[in-house]
Amino acid sequence: MAGPVNPAERVRPARVAVVGAGAVGAYVAARAGQAGAEVVLCVRRGAYDRVRVVRDESAGGNFETPLRVITDPARLDAPLDWVVMATKAHQTHAAMDWLHAALAASAEGLGVVVAQNGVRQTERVSPPVPRDAVLPAVVYINAELPEPGVVRHLAYGVLQIPDSPLGERFARVLPPGDVRLVDDFVTAAWSKLLSNSAANSVTALTGRGLEVLGRADVAELALAVMRETAAVGRADGARLPTDAPERTLERLRRQPPGAGTSMLRDRLAGRPLEHEALIGTVVRLGQRTGVATPASAALLPLLAALNDDRAG
Ligand SMILES: NC(=O)c1ccc[n+]([C@@H]2O[C@H](COP(=O)([O-])OP(=O)(O)OC[C@H]3O[C@@H](n4cnc5c(N)ncnc54)[C@H](OP(=O)(O)O)[C@@H]3O)[C@@H](O)[C@H]2O)c1
Repeated sequence: MAGPVNPAERVRPARVAVVGAGAVGAYVAARAGQAGAEVVLCVRRGAYDRVRVVRDESAGGNFETPLRVITDPARLDAPLDWVVMATKAHQTHAAMDWLHAALAASAEGLGVVVAQNGVRQTERVSPPVPRDAVLPAVVYINAELPEPGVVRHLAYGVLQIPDSPLGERFARVLPPGDVRLVDDFVTAAWSKLLSNSAANSVTALTGRGLEVLGRADVAELALAVMRETAAVGRADGARLPTDAPERTLERLRRQPPGAGTSMLRDRLAGRPLEHEALIGTVVRLGQRTGVATPASAALLPLLAALNDDRAG
Protein backbone atom coordinates (compact mmCIF):
# COMPACT_ATOMS: atom_id res chain seq x y z
CA MET A 1 0.00 0.00 0.00
CA ALA A 2 2.60 2.59 1.00
CA GLY A 3 5.47 2.98 -1.45
CA PRO A 4 8.75 4.35 -0.13
CA VAL A 5 8.24 7.65 -1.89
CA ASN A 6 5.04 9.36 -2.83
CA PRO A 7 6.14 11.46 -5.84
CA ALA A 8 3.04 13.64 -5.54
CA GLU A 9 4.31 14.98 -2.21
CA ARG A 10 7.31 16.46 -4.03
CA VAL A 11 5.11 18.82 -6.03
CA ARG A 12 2.34 19.69 -3.60
CA PRO A 13 1.98 19.99 0.17
CA ALA A 14 1.63 16.72 2.06
CA ARG A 15 -1.96 16.02 3.15
CA VAL A 16 -2.01 14.99 6.77
CA ALA A 17 -4.82 13.98 9.11
CA VAL A 18 -4.01 13.97 12.82
CA VAL A 19 -6.38 11.86 14.91
CA GLY A 20 -6.60 13.12 18.49
CA ALA A 21 -6.03 16.77 19.27
CA GLY A 22 -4.49 16.34 22.70
CA ALA A 23 -1.12 17.79 23.59
CA VAL A 24 0.88 15.62 21.18
CA GLY A 25 -1.61 15.56 18.30
CA ALA A 26 -2.17 19.31 18.37
CA TYR A 27 1.59 19.96 18.57
CA VAL A 28 2.41 17.63 15.66
CA ALA A 29 -0.47 19.12 13.62
CA ALA A 30 0.81 22.63 14.27
CA ARG A 31 4.37 21.69 13.33
CA ALA A 32 3.25 19.93 10.13
CA GLY A 33 1.23 23.00 9.19
CA GLN A 34 4.21 25.22 9.96
CA ALA A 35 6.29 23.10 7.58
CA GLY A 36 3.74 23.61 4.81
CA ALA A 37 1.50 20.52 5.06
CA GLU A 38 -2.27 20.69 4.61
CA VAL A 39 -3.51 19.49 7.96
CA VAL A 40 -6.88 18.26 9.12
CA LEU A 41 -7.37 17.67 12.82
CA CYS A 42 -9.79 14.84 13.68
CA VAL A 43 -11.44 15.43 17.04
CA ARG A 44 -14.41 14.19 19.04
CA ARG A 45 -15.58 17.69 19.89
CA GLY A 46 -14.48 21.29 19.51
CA ALA A 47 -14.84 24.17 17.10
CA TYR A 48 -11.66 26.04 16.29
CA ASP A 49 -9.67 26.74 13.17
CA ARG A 50 -6.09 27.02 14.40
CA VAL A 51 -3.67 25.61 16.93
CA ARG A 52 -1.62 27.98 19.05
CA VAL A 53 1.63 26.66 20.48
CA VAL A 54 2.87 28.53 23.55
CA ARG A 55 6.52 28.11 24.48
CA ASP A 56 9.64 29.91 25.65
CA GLU A 57 11.49 32.24 23.32
CA SER A 58 14.52 29.97 23.77
CA ALA A 59 12.50 27.13 22.19
CA GLY A 60 11.47 29.28 19.22
CA GLY A 61 8.62 31.27 20.77
CA ASN A 62 4.87 31.05 20.26
CA PHE A 63 3.35 30.31 16.89
CA GLU A 64 -0.08 29.64 15.36
CA THR A 65 -1.09 27.29 12.57
CA PRO A 66 -4.44 27.54 10.78
CA LEU A 67 -5.91 24.13 9.98
CA ARG A 68 -9.18 22.32 9.38
CA VAL A 69 -10.90 20.70 12.36
CA ILE A 70 -13.53 17.99 11.81
CA THR A 71 -15.61 15.86 14.17
CA ASP A 72 -17.11 13.37 11.72
CA PRO A 73 -15.02 10.63 10.05
CA ALA A 74 -17.34 10.86 7.00
CA ARG A 75 -15.75 14.25 6.28
CA LEU A 76 -12.35 12.60 5.84
CA ASP A 77 -13.28 12.02 2.23
CA ALA A 78 -10.28 13.37 0.26
CA PRO A 79 -7.09 11.37 -0.40
CA LEU A 80 -4.43 11.69 2.28
CA ASP A 81 -0.69 11.03 2.39
CA TRP A 82 -0.50 10.52 6.15
CA VAL A 83 -2.56 9.82 9.22
CA VAL A 84 -0.92 10.51 12.57
CA MET A 85 -2.65 8.56 15.31
CA ALA A 86 -2.12 10.62 18.48
CA THR A 87 -4.82 9.43 20.83
CA LYS A 88 -3.81 7.69 24.04
CA ALA A 89 -3.06 4.01 23.34
CA HIS A 90 -6.27 2.77 24.98
CA GLN A 91 -8.33 5.13 22.80
CA THR A 92 -7.00 3.71 19.51
CA HIS A 93 -9.70 1.09 19.07
CA ALA A 94 -12.50 3.63 19.45
CA ALA A 95 -10.77 5.94 16.98
CA MET A 96 -10.61 3.31 14.20
CA ASP A 97 -13.47 4.95 12.28
CA TRP A 98 -11.03 7.69 11.33
CA LEU A 99 -8.55 5.17 9.98
CA HIS A 100 -11.21 3.27 8.03
CA ALA A 101 -12.37 6.55 6.47
CA ALA A 102 -8.78 7.55 5.62
CA LEU A 103 -8.07 4.14 4.07
CA ALA A 104 -11.26 4.32 2.00
CA ALA A 105 -10.46 7.83 0.73
CA SER A 106 -6.78 7.20 0.00
CA ALA A 107 -6.43 4.48 -2.58
CA GLU A 108 -2.66 4.20 -2.31
CA GLY A 109 0.33 5.85 -0.72
CA LEU A 110 -1.24 6.34 2.70
CA GLY A 111 1.20 6.05 5.61
CA VAL A 112 0.07 5.85 9.23
CA VAL A 113 2.23 7.11 12.10
CA VAL A 114 1.33 5.84 15.57
CA ALA A 115 2.62 8.54 17.92
CA GLN A 116 1.90 6.85 21.23
CA ASN A 117 3.77 5.60 24.25
CA GLY A 118 4.54 1.93 24.75
CA VAL A 119 5.94 -0.71 22.40
CA ARG A 120 4.58 -2.61 19.39
CA GLN A 121 2.56 0.43 18.28
CA THR A 122 2.17 -1.09 14.79
CA GLU A 123 -0.07 -3.85 16.16
CA ARG A 124 -2.54 -1.25 17.41
CA VAL A 125 -3.57 -0.23 13.87
CA SER A 126 -2.66 -3.26 11.79
CA PRO A 127 -5.03 -4.58 10.63
CA PRO A 128 -6.71 -2.68 9.01
CA VAL A 129 -3.59 -0.77 7.96
CA PRO A 130 -1.00 -2.98 6.19
CA ARG A 131 2.08 -3.36 8.39
CA ASP A 132 4.41 -1.90 5.78
CA ALA A 133 2.36 1.30 5.75
CA VAL A 134 2.73 1.88 9.51
CA LEU A 135 5.44 3.90 11.24
CA PRO A 136 5.59 3.43 15.00
CA ALA A 137 6.87 6.54 16.78
CA VAL A 138 8.49 7.07 20.16
CA VAL A 139 7.23 10.45 21.35
CA TYR A 140 9.72 12.82 22.96
CA ILE A 141 7.42 15.83 23.12
CA ASN A 142 6.69 17.25 26.54
CA ALA A 143 3.46 19.21 26.19
CA GLU A 144 0.13 19.96 27.84
CA LEU A 145 -3.20 21.12 26.47
CA PRO A 146 -4.58 23.84 28.76
CA GLU A 147 -7.56 24.33 26.42
CA PRO A 148 -8.64 22.90 23.05
CA GLY A 149 -6.42 24.28 20.30
CA VAL A 150 -3.78 25.62 22.70
CA VAL A 151 -0.61 23.60 23.37
CA ARG A 152 1.82 24.47 26.13
CA HIS A 153 5.09 23.07 24.77
CA LEU A 154 7.38 22.40 27.73
CA ALA A 155 10.40 20.52 26.39
CA TYR A 156 11.84 18.33 23.64
CA GLY A 157 9.94 18.03 20.33
CA VAL A 158 11.09 14.90 18.56
CA LEU A 159 9.44 11.78 17.15
CA GLN A 160 11.78 8.80 16.86
CA ILE A 161 10.74 6.55 13.99
CA PRO A 162 12.39 3.63 12.20
CA ASP A 163 15.05 4.51 9.67
CA SER A 164 13.39 3.36 6.46
CA PRO A 165 12.25 4.83 3.15
CA LEU A 166 8.81 5.39 4.68
CA GLY A 167 10.44 7.07 7.70
CA GLU A 168 12.47 9.35 5.42
CA ARG A 169 9.29 10.27 3.61
CA PHE A 170 7.52 11.22 6.83
CA ALA A 171 10.53 13.19 8.08
CA ARG A 172 9.91 15.64 5.23
CA VAL A 173 6.41 16.40 6.55
CA LEU A 174 7.69 18.05 9.75
CA PRO A 175 10.29 20.82 10.19
CA PRO A 176 13.92 19.62 10.11
CA GLY A 177 14.92 18.08 13.43
CA ASP A 178 11.41 17.10 14.52
CA VAL A 179 11.88 13.50 13.31
CA ARG A 180 14.84 11.37 14.32
CA LEU A 181 15.33 8.21 12.26
CA VAL A 182 16.61 5.38 14.44
CA ASP A 183 18.31 2.15 13.34
CA ASP A 184 17.04 0.10 16.24
CA PHE A 185 13.45 1.07 16.92
CA VAL A 186 12.80 -1.84 19.29
CA THR A 187 15.53 -0.57 21.62
CA ALA A 188 14.31 3.02 21.28
CA ALA A 189 10.76 2.05 22.24
CA TRP A 190 11.83 -0.07 25.22
CA SER A 191 14.21 2.66 26.43
CA LYS A 192 11.25 5.02 26.69
CA LEU A 193 9.03 2.36 28.23
CA LEU A 194 11.70 1.79 30.87
CA SER A 195 10.98 5.17 32.43
CA ASN A 196 7.27 5.24 31.55
CA SER A 197 6.41 1.92 33.18
CA ALA A 198 7.83 2.97 36.54
CA ALA A 199 7.52 6.76 36.59
CA ASN A 200 3.96 6.93 35.28
CA SER A 201 2.85 4.19 37.67
CA VAL A 202 4.31 5.52 40.91
CA THR A 203 3.30 9.12 40.22
CA ALA A 204 -0.27 8.16 39.26
CA LEU A 205 -0.64 5.87 42.28
CA THR A 206 0.71 8.38 44.78
CA GLY A 207 -0.81 11.44 43.15
CA ARG A 208 2.61 13.08 43.37
CA GLY A 209 5.17 14.33 40.85
CA LEU A 210 8.55 12.76 40.17
CA GLU A 211 9.84 14.16 43.47
CA VAL A 212 8.19 11.09 45.03
CA LEU A 213 11.24 9.18 43.74
CA GLY A 214 13.21 11.04 46.41
CA ARG A 215 11.79 8.49 48.87
CA ALA A 216 14.16 5.54 49.10
CA ASP A 217 11.32 3.01 49.31
CA VAL A 218 9.49 4.39 46.24
CA ALA A 219 12.78 4.58 44.33
CA GLU A 220 13.44 0.93 45.18
CA LEU A 221 10.00 -0.04 43.87
CA ALA A 222 10.51 2.00 40.70
CA LEU A 223 13.88 0.34 40.18
CA ALA A 224 12.32 -3.10 40.56
CA VAL A 225 9.72 -2.21 37.88
CA MET A 226 12.43 -0.86 35.60
CA ARG A 227 14.59 -3.98 36.01
CA GLU A 228 11.59 -6.11 35.06
CA THR A 229 10.84 -3.83 32.11
CA ALA A 230 14.45 -4.08 30.93
CA ALA A 231 14.43 -7.88 31.26
CA VAL A 232 11.21 -8.19 29.24
CA GLY A 233 12.55 -5.68 26.71
CA ARG A 234 15.72 -7.72 26.25
CA ALA A 235 13.61 -10.85 25.74
CA ASP A 236 11.73 -8.85 23.09
CA GLY A 237 14.98 -7.97 21.31
CA ALA A 238 15.90 -4.60 22.85
CA ARG A 239 19.60 -3.97 23.42
CA LEU A 240 19.50 -2.15 26.73
CA PRO A 241 22.68 -1.55 28.73
CA THR A 242 22.99 -3.50 32.00
CA ASP A 243 22.75 -0.35 34.09
CA ALA A 244 19.89 1.21 32.11
CA PRO A 245 17.41 1.01 35.04
CA GLU A 246 19.81 2.71 37.49
CA ARG A 247 20.69 5.43 34.98
CA THR A 248 17.04 6.03 34.16
CA LEU A 249 16.20 6.35 37.86
CA GLU A 250 19.00 8.88 38.34
CA ARG A 251 17.73 10.92 35.40
CA LEU A 252 14.18 10.88 36.73
CA ARG A 253 15.38 11.97 40.17
CA ARG A 254 17.17 14.98 38.63
CA GLN A 255 13.94 16.37 37.12
CA PRO A 256 12.97 19.83 38.39
CA PRO A 257 10.45 20.13 41.25
CA GLY A 258 6.87 19.82 40.01
CA ALA A 259 7.77 17.62 37.03
CA GLY A 260 4.99 15.09 36.48
CA THR A 261 4.02 12.36 34.05
CA SER A 262 1.16 12.01 31.59
CA MET A 263 -0.48 9.33 33.72
CA LEU A 264 -0.36 11.59 36.77
CA ARG A 265 -1.94 14.37 34.70
CA ASP A 266 -4.67 11.97 33.56
CA ARG A 267 -5.30 10.82 37.11
CA LEU A 268 -5.59 14.38 38.42
CA ALA A 269 -7.93 15.30 35.54
CA GLY A 270 -10.15 12.25 36.15
CA ARG A 271 -9.35 10.71 32.75
CA PRO A 272 -8.82 6.99 32.06
CA LEU A 273 -5.21 5.90 32.46
CA GLU A 274 -2.87 4.43 29.86
CA HIS A 275 -1.56 1.77 32.26
CA GLU A 276 -2.39 -1.23 30.03
CA ALA A 277 -0.10 -0.03 27.24
CA LEU A 278 2.70 0.73 29.69
CA ILE A 279 3.03 -1.54 32.70
CA GLY A 280 0.32 -3.96 31.44
CA THR A 281 2.48 -4.65 28.39
CA VAL A 282 5.45 -5.47 30.61
CA VAL A 283 3.38 -8.01 32.55
CA ARG A 284 1.77 -9.57 29.45
CA LEU A 285 4.98 -9.84 27.42
CA GLY A 286 6.75 -11.09 30.54
CA GLN A 287 4.27 -13.96 30.74
CA ARG A 288 4.76 -14.69 27.04
CA THR A 289 8.56 -14.63 27.21
CA GLY A 290 8.94 -16.36 30.59
CA VAL A 291 10.29 -13.30 32.43
CA ALA A 292 9.02 -12.82 35.99
CA THR A 293 7.48 -9.40 36.67
CA PRO A 294 6.18 -9.52 40.28
CA ALA A 295 6.54 -5.80 41.08
CA SER A 296 4.83 -4.71 37.85
CA ALA A 297 2.10 -7.32 38.30
CA ALA A 298 1.42 -6.02 41.82
CA LEU A 299 1.00 -2.44 40.62
CA LEU A 300 -1.21 -3.29 37.65
CA PRO A 301 -4.49 -4.00 39.52
CA LEU A 302 -4.01 -0.87 41.62
CA LEU A 303 -3.76 1.23 38.46
CA ALA A 304 -6.70 -0.62 36.94
CA ALA A 305 -8.72 0.15 40.08
CA LEU A 306 -8.02 3.88 39.63
CA ASN A 307 -9.85 3.57 36.32
CA ASP A 308 -13.01 2.05 37.80
CA ASP A 309 -14.84 5.34 38.20
CA ARG A 310 -13.70 6.89 34.91
CA ALA A 311 -15.44 7.04 31.55
CA GLY A 312 -13.81 4.58 29.09
N1 LIG B 1 1.78 14.86 26.46
C1 LIG B 1 3.03 14.50 26.55
O1 LIG B 1 3.87 15.29 27.05
C2 LIG B 1 3.49 13.16 26.03
C3 LIG B 1 4.86 12.91 26.02
C4 LIG B 1 5.32 11.71 25.51
C5 LIG B 1 4.43 10.78 25.04
N2 LIG B 1 3.09 11.03 25.08
C6 LIG B 1 2.20 9.99 24.53
O2 LIG B 1 1.60 10.47 23.34
C7 LIG B 1 0.27 9.94 23.18
C8 LIG B 1 -0.72 11.10 23.12
O3 LIG B 1 -0.61 11.79 24.36
P1 LIG B 1 -1.33 13.16 24.70
O4 LIG B 1 -0.65 13.71 25.89
O5 LIG B 1 -1.46 14.01 23.49
O6 LIG B 1 -2.77 12.63 25.10
P2 LIG B 1 -4.09 13.48 25.36
O7 LIG B 1 -3.71 14.90 25.67
O8 LIG B 1 -4.90 12.72 26.33
O9 LIG B 1 -4.78 13.50 23.94
C9 LIG B 1 -5.46 12.42 23.37
C10 LIG B 1 -6.52 13.03 22.50
O10 LIG B 1 -7.13 12.00 21.74
C11 LIG B 1 -8.47 12.36 21.62
N3 LIG B 1 -9.31 11.22 21.25
C12 LIG B 1 -9.58 10.11 21.96
N4 LIG B 1 -10.38 9.29 21.28
C13 LIG B 1 -10.64 9.92 20.10
C14 LIG B 1 -11.44 9.59 18.98
N5 LIG B 1 -12.15 8.46 18.91
N6 LIG B 1 -11.48 10.47 17.95
C15 LIG B 1 -10.79 11.63 17.99
N7 LIG B 1 -10.03 12.00 19.04
C16 LIG B 1 -9.96 11.15 20.08
C17 LIG B 1 -8.85 12.89 22.98
O11 LIG B 1 -10.02 13.65 22.82
P3 LIG B 1 -10.97 14.15 24.01
O12 LIG B 1 -10.40 15.48 24.37
O13 LIG B 1 -12.29 14.19 23.38
O14 LIG B 1 -10.85 13.15 25.12
C18 LIG B 1 -7.62 13.72 23.30
O15 LIG B 1 -7.76 15.05 22.85
C19 LIG B 1 0.06 9.03 24.40
O16 LIG B 1 0.38 7.71 24.08
C20 LIG B 1 1.05 9.59 25.44
O17 LIG B 1 1.45 8.64 26.39
C21 LIG B 1 2.60 12.20 25.56
